[in-house]
Amino acid sequence: MTSDSNRIQSIRGFADILPSATPVWRQVETTLQATLAAYGYDEIRLPALEHTELFARSIGEVTDIVEKEMYSFEDRNGDSLSLRPEGTAGCVRAGIQHGLLHSKEQRLWYAGPMFRHERPQKGRYRQFHQIGAEVFGLQGPDIDAEMILMTGRMLRALGLGDVRLEINSLGSAEARRAYREELVSHFRAHWEALDADAQRRLETNPMRVLDSKNPQLQAVIESAPSLMDRLDEASRAHFEGLTRILDAAGQPYTVNPRLVRGLDYYGRTVFEWVSDALGAQGTVCAGGRYDRLVEQIGGNDTPAIGFATGIERLVSLVTERFGVPEVAGPDAYLVVGDEAAMGVAHRLSERVRDQSPGARIRVHSGGGSFKSQFKRADRCGARYAVVLGESERASGQYTVKDLRGDEPQRSLDENELIEFLSAGQH
Ligand code: HAM
Repeated sequence: MTSDSNRIQSIRGFADILPSATPVWRQVETTLQATLAAYGYDEIRLPALEHTELFARSIGEVTDIVEKEMYSFEDRNGDSLSLRPEGTAGCVRAGIQHGLLHSKEQRLWYAGPMFRHERPQKGRYRQFHQIGAEVFGLQGPDIDAEMILMTGRMLRALGLGDVRLEINSLGSAEARRAYREELVSHFRAHWEALDADAQRRLETNPMRVLDSKNPQLQAVIESAPSLMDRLDEASRAHFEGLTRILDAAGQPYTVNPRLVRGLDYYGRTVFEWVSDALGAQGTVCAGGRYDRLVEQIGGNDTPAIGFATGIERLVSLVTERFGVPEVAGPDAYLVVGDEAAMGVAHRLSERVRDQSPGARIRVHSGGGSFKSQFKRADRCGARYAVVLGESERASGQYTVKDLRGDEPQRSLDENELIEFLSAGQH
């Protein structure tokens, strides 16, 4: 007997995605991927493990992700490696390494698990899945607008047309530097009103104080100076260009001057799609422009913008709204009388699969009486049971029973049976 303490459990925050959930996952993934293809994006596949330095240099040394959420370790050679907490850094690294960014436009998408040692809760996991995309080589606000419209289309295609769009501009590095100083003075003047986290952030990453969800801080955040009012001229023009296209395209949005994002590489446009139906973890899709990053990690000066969606959050919204589709059983379950019948069953079912690759046939395995085989056929949700007993083999006529409806029993010869099963669900 196995006792509970003897059983190995999954790691906290690392979820199994069970067969009852995978159809919704697949639906979400294929919908997003089809939309990316429709806008001319190409897929890139990237490693889950990278040098820790890549993330420190791109996401930023003083971000929560790099400071306290990465799964980092020394490998057997003594190199510091980290499981990727997101996909942008690796995509930029690969783009530079393989010469994909040399003075040409690239539209790339990727999918896969990401890893962050956060406190697990609804919508927040330590292994989670993203589908993300990055565009390189385009600097105007037109691509920002198109990317936002594309992510909106993805959400509508999933039946989530009510998710809200928030946008902001983080301006140029110089504008942010000046703004940061102003912000620090503002919060210093209200030092006692800050919580410990905000006091710590004020030293390391003051703009992140604006992101605090602590209700006691809202008044002092509300009265803080706004970066939107201090944008450099070029960033202001860029942002106005973006809002003009969104307005013309009829895409509603809210300008949220406190939208600062948790990764350091952003400048100018940032955006988030936020749902009210997910509690605290409401952001289902987020991204922005990062024109300095390619150069910062060793490439040529290349403008870039990207986004990533959290698949767990999308699956959760789709499931809450539309329920879980029933996992369909096979089209037919072949009940076999003896070993000779087993041979016939496999010959038949292979011919059906040759003829109709979409047909779903399960041949009984593991022996047992007709009665117990029928029970299994029923339990797996098969539409029809096909009986291959001794008398059927002798007569060459096979019995087909409808397990879900009330179609009369059929008696078919081998060719008729293959035709019948190849036609799929009837
Ligand atoms: P991010 O905002 O850190 O951005 O993550 C993007 C999305 O991933 C979030 O909006 C959320 O849906 C999902 N996500 C993040 N952390 C978790 C978690 N612990 N559990 C479940 N879902 C989570 C990025 O990762 C950027 N690389 C996006 C980007 C691409 N910006 C430019 N290009």
